[in-house]
Amino acid sequence: MSEFKRTLVTTALPYANGPVHIGHLAGVYVPADIYVRYLRLKGEEVMMVGGSDEHGVPITIKARREGVTPQDIVDRYHTLIRDSFKDFGISFDVYGRTTSDTHRRTASDFFRRLYDKGEFIEKTSQQLYDPEAGQFLADRYVTGKCPHCGAEGAYGDQCEACGTSLNATDLIDPRSAITGAVPVMKETTHFYLPLDKWQPRLEEWILKGHKEWKTNVYGQCKSWLDMGLQPRAVSRDLDWGIPVPVEGAEGKVLYVWFDAPIGYISNTIDLVGDDYTKWWKDPETRMIHFIGKDNIVFHCIVFPAMLMADGTYNLPDNVPANEFLNLEDDKISTSRNWAVWLHEYLRDFPGKQDTLRYTLTANAPETKDNNFTWKDFQARNNNELVAILGNFVNRAVVLDHKYFGGKVPERGELQEIDKAVLEEVRQAVAATAADLDQFKFREALRQAMNVARAGNKYLADTEPWKVWKSDPERVATILNVALQICATIAIVGEPFMPFMSRDLCEMLGIRDINWQMAGRDDILKAGDNVGEAKLLFTKIEDDAIQAQMDRLERIKEENKLAGWNPEPVKAECSFEDFEKLDIRVGKVLECERVKKSKKLLKFRIDDGLGGRTILSGIAASYPEPEKLVGTEVLFIANFAPRKMMGEESQGMILSAVNPDGSLTLASASAEVKPGAQVG
Ligand code: MF3
Ligand code: ZN
Repeated sequence: MSEFKRTLVTTALPYANGPVHIGHLAGVYVPADIYVRYLRLKGEEVMMVGGSDEHGVPITIKARREGVTPQDIVDRYHTLIRDSFKDFGISFDVYGRTTSDTHRRTASDFFRRLYDKGEFIEKTSQQLYDPEAGQFLADRYVTGKCPHCGAEGAYGDQCEACGTSLNATDLIDPRSAITGAVPVMKETTHFYLPLDKWQPRLEEWILKGHKEWKTNVYGQCKSWLDMGLQPRAVSRDLDWGIPVPVEGAEGKVLYVWFDAPIGYISNTIDLVGDDYTKWWKDPETRMIHFIGKDNIVFHCIVFPAMLMADGTYNLPDNVPANEFLNLEDDKISTSRNWAVWLHEYLRDFPGKQDTLRYTLTANAPETKDNNFTWKDFQARNNNELVAILGNFVNRAVVLDHKYFGGKVPERGELQEIDKAVLEEVRQAVAATAADLDQFKFREALRQAMNVARAGNKYLADTEPWKVWKSDPERVATILNVALQICATIAIVGEPFMPFMSRDLCEMLGIRDINWQMAGRDDILKAGDNVGEAKLLFTKIEDDAIQAQMDRLERIKEENKLAGWNPEPVKAECSFEDFEKLDIRVGKVLECERVKKSKKLLKFRIDDGLGGRTILSGIAASYPEPEKLVGTEVLFIANFAPRKMMGEESQGMILSAVNPDGSLTLASASAEVKPGAQVG
């Protein structure tokens, strides 16, 4: 069928600096898993490679912030991430890490081979250096204003606001992310991969040879190539990473984007040893990289150029990169905690992995950024998985037990409606496969669900429960057909919802499924045993969804507070200016709302001088004014009296403005005599 003998599927290695979230799953791991499960069902030879990306500045920054070593960080998150993927049924053949010995050796040898072939150029240049930390500021160690879009907080390697990839020296007003210091320029020498040398071959290979790539991928490659490729530094002055294996390069490590993709090779070696050449160098193997859009340039241009420079490797056959998934209309962000973390999801929705896999695939950000909402998640579960797929299977199995004691009934002559539904199912199966072959996972899932839709409608139209009395033989035929459709659901549904498929296969007593069986009308044989009906999906209630929305609401609040900055300090004021103010301590004797005013409270204050009345606009922050009686406040005693809402105020009470706009009365820290001056 295909000109390839086997398929190597790689999935972007996530940085081991935090847990994984729904964006990771939707963009990379679920589509990749669907694809390899589909190929395995077809009986093809396939390997799925994954692992943790454990070098790079994101990891050292996290370690520094927590006061632990980078190794502590990667150990913690490698385990957490690996377990999350396992829990969600992501079926890696190998899940390695870039701090492994195999990887250190493989990446080091790779660099050395290119070095010995003269594939690098060495360049000395001025780079940003933090004089306080005594360290060069590579990549994310420096932040500043983006020269393209003007956003603050752009990183030395990329602006997350506009997506442009940057050089640290491009940033406007750069600051060290370590100490906050203004960096100075300092000379350093690095190894560069001359991408310009590979430009003609890359153009030939991508622009002429891979017009079938997704438009978002092809378009990004084209714009990089149109701008003209430049030599790219592949070493860094850092102490976390794989040492550059060249004499005189002490203190330098491989750039993380040089070592990480080699991790795909290392992890293959960890699984199959010397046989890795079959997966990486045999022209009859095709390689597919599943990644997010921020990784396109590295997988379509930089890594291929590295492979070309080596000269013995295959190039990727396709790179079906996805766009980004948003959460409730806002960009997913690890630092702002704006995410649904996989390990937390499983705690809140145990056993509902397939519901998430389903929702993320149905909303996959395949051609544009897409949005995850909890309401949509609930609707997809309740209205599609429960009401269509679950309902159909449950009806078929329950009716079979009721009428035929849980045996697959023998069927008689097929009527038009039976033939029609079987044909509809066959077509949906074929369409699912065609879409999967083209990495169109959303559409493939819709087609696979059409099998369940067709089955559901078939039972509703044929109404076997009404026919049973008059024509039990007809019911036998209907249920035989319905159960065959259930079996097809177990097969075509497997790549998308492996847990559902496992349960359904068990219910139907089928083992060893394969794609070729899907859509056939003889998957189950008359007389086979069907197990008890078991619910494949259960309803998700409103309160579970509300709890998730409340959590996001709380995070929004926290972020607002975290993003709060004090007002800048006002223009200088002299001591003489200050001395004019008479600030005093007072004790609240009475306090009540001013009638017809939402804002004003009326205080009667013991000022040690016979008492005075002061009005203050803090009613919203103190809904029970009587509770303030007996407390001490600070007030300005020498303001000229003024009228508010028909009342005279003799001074001003001091209060602090909180980030949310509420007010808190200022007071003395211990009891002070009313009338005492503050100064
Ligand atoms: N760690 C990178 C990221 O999260 C992806 C690395 S992919 C690899 O963006 F190819 F370099 F491994
Ligand atoms: Zn920008």
